[in-house]
Amino acid sequence: MKNRRKEIYAANWKMNLDSGDIRGFMERIVPYAGTVDAEVMIFPPAVYLSSVAEQAAGSPIGVGAQNMFWERNGAYTGEISALMIKDCGAGYVLCGHSERRHFFGESAEMVTRKAGAAQDEGLIPMICVGETLEEREQGETLEVLHKDIYCSLSDVKPDKRVIIAYEPVWAIGTGLTATPEDAETAIAYIRDQVRELWGDLADAIRILYGGSVKPGNIAELMACPNIDGALVGGASLHADSFIDIIQNGVNR
Ligand code: PGA
Repeated sequence: MKNRRKEIYAANWKMNLDSGDIRGFMERIVPYAGTVDAEVMIFPPAVYLSSVAEQAAGSPIGVGAQNMFWERNGAYTGEISALMIKDCGAGYVLCGHSERRHFFGESAEMVTRKAGAAQDEGLIPMICVGETLEEREQGETLEVLHKDIYCSLSDVKPDKRVIIAYEPVWAIGTGLTATPEDAETAIAYIRDQVRELWGDLADAIRILYGGSVKPGNIAELMACPNIDGALVGGASLHADSFIDIIQNGVNR
């Protein structure tokens, strides 16, 4: 089943790197991306979207924004729209990253509105879901994921290009990675939830794992049948470690 889904390795730079760092990174990743049988994506800070898209032009690298607002334009100081992201040459957008949900108060209703609006402009949303440590310790992981998926997909039109990232909040930036078994259980469950909503399309949807992915733990994660790639934060800030992750993932 998995071999019908092309793997994705995505770099989420969050609020890191400057134009000089980015130039150095792109000089390494652009020639590499064409040599590997996987999709490589970069989510830079919005102010660098155009520059990253220009540097990635002609390569198979996908470029996306880390966030957006659902309106096309208007008096929304500080926000950017799907229209603008597309105009910068990007094709993807992260929706509902846990840092957006927890630091900036984004609800699942806001996340699905954003993802639906992204689709309306022709962007592909990468929708992030995941439980907190407290929820995991209370044994609520699957219940949280059920609610998250149902709510986060409610405004999203069924489309096999939609991407989901399972990122347990307790594993993000903490050095703690979910065991491959825990990640596989959660991601298989997410796929079942998508199947309830979207039928057999669920088999084509790429579901990634995110949370302290490193060159040393990617192979065992990618060996799991339902894990279709990785969303990488800290270890994606240096081209060397991001390329090692991709390499170790595809060569597992
Ligand atoms: P991390 O972040 O790899 O630094 O844990 C992952 C993410 O938040 O996308």
